[in-house]
Amino acid sequence: MRAPSPWSAKLSNTVFMRIFIPALVVALCLVSARGASPQQREQAAPSPLPWAYGFMPDGSTPPLIPTVKDDGTIRHIPSSDSTFTLTQVRNGFDPADWHPGDHGPMPDIVAHGKKPNVMACALCHYSNGKGRPENAGISDLPVVYFIQQMNDFKSGARTSAEPRKTNAIRMEGFAKDMNDDEIKAAAEYFATIPWTPWIKVVESETVPKFRITAGLFLKLEGNEREPLGNRVIELADMARQIYDIQHGFRKGPSAQLMQKAVENLTSDDIVAIIAYVASLNP
Ligand code: HEC
Repeated sequence: MRAPSPWSAKLSNTVFMRIFIPALVVALCLVSARGASPQQREQAAPSPLPWAYGFMPDGSTPPLIPTVKDDGTIRHIPSSDSTFTLTQVRNGFDPADWHPGDHGPMPDIVAHGKKPNVMACALCHYSNGKGRPENAGISDLPVVYFIQQMNDFKSGARTSAEPRKTNAIRMEGFAKDMNDDEIKAAAEYFATIPWTPWIKVVESETVPKFRITAGLFLKLEGNEREPLGNRVIELADMARQIYDIQHGFRKGPSAQLMQKAVENLTSDDIVAIIAYVASLNP
């Protein structure tokens, strides 16, 4: 599974899925061939996907794990010469930048946010835009799409289907407190950073035992495993977006284009599609 530290921006995520990739192409064809009668739509309505939003298989909220106190220890990660304390890593208005060589100069809004309400984009999306898995990867997005998403968050055209997903709700709030120039600066900055594959797909029946903390899936100590079942562990974000678009929580223009394509997908289809997409190089 992925490396346990949420700040290890250079390490890739591993995605565990049960489906054999060639079967997915067939699954995709079946999906696109399906008609759209209202009756089928009813039947196809997926059950919510709690794992995609960082919740337990039964939909309950994971137990709260107390935040580790900063005892002043200087933290290191492999592949970076920089060092930070936990307080520096978590600073919402000046978060740690472990790999300053990965990207050009950050606009102020990306590196520091705007006090008191807009946190630095780099906190959740990393300075290089690859994003922690419970948030979103935002590097290399077309500027027009990026700006549209920010405006959709602002207008309420884009919300999350899961009212407990607090980071998505905060994202809406940040957009509302940003002006056009700040949005444009962030969009243009992240667009300059090429997206690179950083997800390793592992086909498996089981997954290492993990805990969920604030939407992050973290491997437990030891080598115990649990059945994967019909889940994709790690790359939860894409599934979340499909579900939100399908259920009208994202209504912006680009989401409307997607809506027709996703409206009849079942949870199984969504698992199949993200397994397939995650296996492709961008
Ligand atoms: C507290 C964490 C957090 C911070 C800080 C944050 N975001 Fe986000 N962002 C999110 C989450 C979570 C999502 C995914 C929301 C969803 O599920 O729809 C997101 C999504 C986005 C998207 C949409 C990506 C897509 O593929 O559609 C954009 C664009 C974005 N953020 C820009 C920003 C900018 C610009 C900043 C800095 C001003 C910022 N974010 C700060 C958590 C954060």
